[in-house]
Formats: sequence, structure tokens, C-alpha cells
Amino acid sequence: MIVTWAMNSSSSSVVRYWRRKLGEDSDESIAFPYWIRQYNVSQGVRIVHDYVSPWFYSAKLGPLQKGSFYEYQIDNGTRHFFETISEEKYPITVAILGDVGQTNFSKETFNELEQYEPRPKSVLLLGDLSYADGELDRWDSYERLAEKAFAEIPVAVLPGNHECEVDSTGNAFTSYRNRYPPSGIEAPEIIAPGNFDYSEYDAIFHYDFGASFYAYTLGPVKVIALNTYVRANAGSRQQAFLERELACTDRSVTPWIIIGMHAPWYSTNAKHRADTELNTANHRAGLEDIIAQGGVAFVFAGHVHAYERSHAVCQNELDNKCPVYITVGDGGNRELLYDAWPFANKYEPWSAYRNGTRYGFGVIDFHSDYRATWKWLPNDFNGEPRDSIEITNPYFATVPEQSFSLSPEFTFDCQANLVHEVNRRAAFSSANNYDSTPDKGKSIKSRQMLLIGIFCCLLFIVIATTFHAFHNAVDHPHFSVLTNSELELVPSSTTTYPKSEQESALV
Ligand SMILES: [Fe+2]
Repeated sequence: MIVTWAMNSSSSSVVRYWRRKLGEDSDESIAFPYWIRQYNVSQGVRIVHDYVSPWFYSAKLGPLQKGSFYEYQIDNGTRHFFETISEEKYPITVAILGDVGQTNFSKETFNELEQYEPRPKSVLLLGDLSYADGELDRWDSYERLAEKAFAEIPVAVLPGNHECEVDSTGNAFTSYRNRYPPSGIEAPEIIAPGNFDYSEYDAIFHYDFGASFYAYTLGPVKVIALNTYVRANAGSRQQAFLERELACTDRSVTPWIIIGMHAPWYSTNAKHRADTELNTANHRAGLEDIIAQGGVAFVFAGHVHAYERSHAVCQNELDNKCPVYITVGDGGNRELLYDAWPFANKYEPWSAYRNGTRYGFGVIDFHSDYRATWKWLPNDFNGEPRDSIEITNPYFATVPEQSFSLSPEFTFDCQANLVHEVNRRAAFSSANNYDSTPDKGKSIKSRQMLLIGIFCCLLFIVIATTFHAFHNAVDHPHFSVLTNSELELVPSSTTTYPKSEQESALV
């Protein structure tokens, strides 16, 4: 368990924690920060004003005993509780939340989440977190709003388009990277400057591993977080990462796999259609076939501020061996709901239920290795689901053990370090494939293709620079201290702020 907190100064700060057991609390342990950082941002693309952040601290608590309540305290601040995963694998509840922002609607969603029973063991946040949108002090107000929930329910986050934040140096995801420690430890974080065309939703950043895409396990459940806004085409680290996570998961121990990403591939909403946003189309083109073969139960996304659930589907074909795709971007941000369904009269056979009139979130109850129930919980329904589905784990309907289909030129060594494997794999590709412009989705409009062609020509020098930066990053000495991904992680973060002032300016 990682605890992350913010301080106004760089003075020493620690976490004290102990196991609560009736009448016999354990001795106190102390966790010292392993990562202390502050960031300064000057004006840049979509950065409105200069900003100096608080000091952020992250400390790892543990080893922790399963099925236990722990209390922790940062310095002399408020005490908080959290519960670890039970020895019995089931039941286990995981909450999913998207595009939450910091409005009064967001506040209601957080309140409902805090009160929900059974208490989720973890929350997965599907990106577009603070809606700071260049006013970076709004990251701080968002964190204070979210503190009550996430100081006691471990949260994992993934990046959305509102996290891209390209500052004047060309670095992206600046606030996101500094505020959320990497949850995976299988490979070093690799970052290089780039740009983001908001009109086309096309990013050319390198932001690989770290908190960009990673995986962790919650007892019998593996959660894979992906990044819509970095490359997923052949030869990319994200594609290799996903292939390996699916191929190397021991399903006798971890039978369930769910995936989170920001932008949905299956949505009938008028906004953010997968065939008109370049990053989304590329993400889908690079990864959908891999997911289809992986025995994945659910794929969650936000981005569209509405709720929609698909039937089990792969490449638009219904198939109960495939994932159910769920859009749950109705967390409550200031851009409000998207209740617009222009294809209302067009029957999409994979669309099972949709609703753009309610804010809320959802939970999955895992009952056994075979059965799980998803529930969508609008805020004004007193915890009653407005939509739900019970599924059978598609893994048991899809792949016999050890028969997962791999790329023909490449075999996984599940014990090896992924970055070495990616580099080895890249060697099979043409020299300019790795950092070339992305594979375009199959349905991208011809106008977009033309624009991208021009775009790529103009940015040839930038791309060459990025390629050089990538090689420097791989050689970074920090690489040698990382361990591989075979460890079971229960890493999620709790974030707590000593400040207690209420935000007065909720938008
Ligand atoms: Fe978004």
C-alpha cells in the first residue's frame, strides 16, 4: 500500500501505522517517504498561469497482513483506516469512477462512494480527474475534495486527455506524474516531450510505464490500466506490455482480468466517437485483437460523460468469450452530461443499455472464479443499481491454459524484464517503425489522414529528437534498481492532505 500526501514545506514527514485488532493493536510501524518531489510549471499549451506545487511525499506501508484493518497517521494529522484484501478470495468489490472533476455533482459521487456497502477494496479512476485545465491550483482543490474517500479506499488512477498538460518545456502529464506515484514496478518510466492536438485528439508523447500504463492485482483480480494518449501500435511498449500481462498472468491464481482506459471504443454517444478521435482509433486498432484473445471480463472507459454498457463483443461481433465494454464517464465534472445519442434510430447490436441523464459510478462484485456482477449506481438512487449484468468469467470460455496466441516473431519470457523484451522485439521491426507515426484506425476519415500526413512532415525534426530522447532514457541508471513484474502488487495509493479547509469555489 502506498500513501501519498502533500505538505507546504520539504520538512521531514513520516507515516505511522498499526494493525487494529480488538483489544490488541499491533506495535506501531513507521514508513519513511521513498519519493519526495515538487514541481513548478510555467505557462504552456493549456497552462494558464505559473504554478508552484506543494511538496508531495509517497511512502510504502507493509508488509501488511491480509484481511486486516490498519490505522495510519501522517505526522500528527488525522488518523485514517483501511482494510486489506481478505484471505478468502471472495467476495470482493471494486468501484469504477470516471471524469469526476470537482463540482457539486462530483461531491455527491464521492459521498455515495464513501457510503457504499460493501466497502470497495479499491477504486479505479478512469482519467480526467481534476479538470484543472491549466489552472493548476485546481489540482490541489480537487485533491482536497477527493481526500475523504481516497484516504481510506485505495485508489488507482490512469491518465485522460485532461491530464496531458503540455507545459512550456514540451513535457506532458506534469501534474499527473508528480501527484501519483507509479503503481507498477516492472519497468522504468520513460518520458519524452511531445505535443497534443486537441482538435484531433492526437498525442505524440512518449510516456511509458510508470503511472501511464501498468497492472496490479487485488486478490483474484488483475487490473490493467492503459493510456489512450500514448502509442499502442505494433512495436510500441504499450502493446508489448498488454500482450505480456495477458499472456503471463497465472489464471489459476488470478482468474479475473479487467481493463481500464480513458476513451471508449464502444459508444453510441454523439461525443468523442472512437472513429473520429485519432488516439482512440489508434488505441483500438493496436489493442482490441489482443484483448479479444485474453479472456478479459470488462473493459471500462470514461471520456464520454454518460453511461453505456455493451454486450460481450469483439470487433463489433457479439461473442460471449469477449469483454463487456462499459462507459462510466458520469462522475460529475463541469462539462456536464452528454445526453446526446445521434444514432438513436440506428440499431447497434452490441449496445445493451445507455443513459445520459444521471451522475454516478459503478461497482463490480466478484462472487467466485466464475461469476461477477456489474452495477451502475446513479447518485440519486440510494445505492440501488439502475443497470446491472451478471457475467461468467470469459476466460473459462476462451483459452485453454498456455494456448494464448502470441505474435509469431516473438515469444514471451515471463521472468524477463519487459523493456529488454520490447527492445528485442523492436529489432524485428523496420528501423523507423518504432517511433514512426502511428497506425491509423480503420475508420478514420480521409480528411484526418491528409491532415496527419501534413502534420507528420512538419514535425519530422521533432520526432527525430523524441527518438533520441527515448534512447537516452533507456540508458538511465535508475533502470537497474527496478524489479520485475512477477511480484503481486497491491499497490494502489491513498492520498491524504493535512489541510482541512473546505473548498469554497466548487464550480
Ligand atoms: Fe476525456
